[in-house]
Amino acid sequence: MDSLGVIGYGEMGSMLVRGFLSSGALRVDDVMVSSGSQKSLDACAAAWPGIGIAPTNTDLARRCRTIIIAVRPQEVMGVLLEIAPVVVEGDAHIVSLAAGVSLADLETAFTGQITRVIPTITSSVGQGTTLICHGRRVGADAARRVERLFSSIGDLMLVEEDDLPVATLLSSCGPGLLAAIIEELAGAAVRAGGLPPDRALSLATGMVTATAAYIRETGEAPPDLIQHVATGGGITGAGVQQLRERLPVVLDAAFAAMLERHDAVGE
Ligand SMILES: NC(=O)c1ccc[n+]([C@@H]2O[C@H](COP(=O)([O-])OP(=O)(O)OC[C@H]3O[C@@H](n4cnc5c(N)ncnc54)[C@H](OP(=O)(O)O)[C@@H]3O)[C@@H](O)[C@H]2O)c1
Repeated sequence: MDSLGVIGYGEMGSMLVRGFLSSGALRVDDVMVSSGSQKSLDACAAAWPGIGIAPTNTDLARRCRTIIIAVRPQEVMGVLLEIAPVVVEGDAHIVSLAAGVSLADLETAFTGQITRVIPTITSSVGQGTTLICHGRRVGADAARRVERLFSSIGDLMLVEEDDLPVATLLSSCGPGLLAAIIEELAGAAVRAGGLPPDRALSLATGMVTATAAYIRETGEAPPDLIQHVATGGGITGAGVQQLRERLPVVLDAAFAAMLERHDAVGE
């Protein structure tokens, strides 16, 4: 009954299982998985010998206290309605990863302890911030258990539900945005001077990683870092000026488009 259950062994479900097990936060016999297809379950059993494989979602829900639902947003209400009658209410703690599906919606199907968690793909390398928003019925022990679990794969930030959409765009969709920016930086370098694409991509990736580490370790604000770099002949300044003129428009449009999609996805 103390096992962690993970429903849905896709991108996120498999990443979380790997993270919790390789960080040592859980052992294989603490974890049970169910999924939509036998293929995913076979892959899970092969990757983690000894892990619990549940034939159905309800079988898993009967046997686990903390249950992470890692299915797509459109499928989360169906899974919750399926398992709600068999979970041990009062003790069970449901964790939904679904972007855009509110606590109020989830609570129409399950009236016990529910938390929304938004992980990030970068947790697979122990980096990035998992967002956590507990429902009002979540007890202190259950909250602590889930926070401890997710802190084994990166940083945590507790957020109010109203702040969750924009925080999700930044921390969870953000790696996708930054990957696109890295690609464009490398592309601009290739177009500007004939650097081979693989070398440009390697330089761009290393530079972005190092810049984030520099800001984090020194605590310097981005404008201070810009000042350190933009000395002398004004080369960096010329580039920064171009970005400051155009980037806010581009990023505002990206956020507006993502917010619109985010709000539609759970409907
Ligand atoms: N990807 C991200 O970076 C990210 C970040 C934060 C939050 N999230 C959230 O995480 C959730 C999962 O996203 P994902 O990217 O992991 O999606 P995904 O790769 O498509 O995985 C979804 C999984 O759900 C399983 N599934 C579907 N219907 C099911 C059912 N009725 N019962 C049991 N399992 C079922 C599928 O099983 P089979 O493959 O076995 O058929 C699949 O493995 C979403 O709600 C998303 O909003 C994702």
